[in-house]
Amino acid sequence: MKQAPAAAANPVSRDLRNPDARAPEGTSIIQVRGLEKTYSTARGSLTLFHGLDLDVYPGELVAIVGQSGAGKSTLLHILGALDAPTAGTVHCASTNVAELSQRQAAAFRNSTIGYVWQFHYLLPEFTALENVAMPLLARGQDRRTALATASKWMQEVGLEERSEHRPGELSGGEQQRIALARALVGGPRLLLADEPTGDLDEATARRIFDLLQRLHVTHGLTSIVVTHNLDLAARCARTLRLEHGRLTALGGAS
Ligand SMILES: Nc1ncnc2c1ncn2[C@@H]1O[C@H](COP(=O)(O)OP(=O)(O)O)[C@@H](O)[C@H]1O
Ligand SMILES: [Mg+2]
Repeated sequence: MKQAPAAAANPVSRDLRNPDARAPEGTSIIQVRGLEKTYSTARGSLTLFHGLDLDVYPGELVAIVGQSGAGKSTLLHILGALDAPTAGTVHCASTNVAELSQRQAAAFRNSTIGYVWQFHYLLPEFTALENVAMPLLARGQDRRTALATASKWMQEVGLEERSEHRPGELSGGEQQRIALARALVGGPRLLLADEPTGDLDEATARRIFDLLQRLHVTHGLTSIVVTHNLDLAARCARTLRLEHGRLTALGGAS
């Protein structure tokens, strides 16, 4: 794995920092340069990004907004080593993500990335506690230790009394709390959340966002949240809009 070059060595990106100068100075923990992604489809090729650049700094909570189909999910997939770019470089937490083998990508995701989707993708046949423990079990941790850590996370998301429930026995908001606990149980540095409140009513969405913000702060995370909800985006330090294959700054909370 290669080290990410220092941000100062890439002056190209400077204009993409928050125009209000709210983005912190220093070395970015997520650094994307000249990203392109082309899908071949039956109807020809589809190019999503046109030399997209992005810097996210340690401890930032950044919102990404944009129309459906703009490529928001694809961007998060590439950052999280779930998909590969066609061109450009992607460094996340000192890892050159585009150059990982499949096995390295899986290890990188397990150790460094916490991922939350719009739909929880909890495993229906396992209890909430077992679902939270899953990333630790996948690492080969023994069951007792994994369940003990997962139990702490059940408390952290306020659901210790639902530990033995199956996902189907939980409300939508509770399922997303469990999904957040599962994303963070392995101690990742980066949290990538793709419309985590998109399937929830307004009040529940606000509560999930409150929880996400609290966990972001208390666990010292660097987080990117894709959302359609501009009120929630406005609570992030910076908001970027993905449009015409590039990101532009919309400003952010003071
Ligand atoms: N594997 C794929 N093959 C071909 N086209 C894809 C693939 N994944 C996504 N797309 C297309 O890329 C575009 C962007 O998708 P996506 O990243 O999901 O957008 P968003 O999350 O902003 O709604 C869409 O038009 C989608 O149909
Ligand atoms: Mg999407």
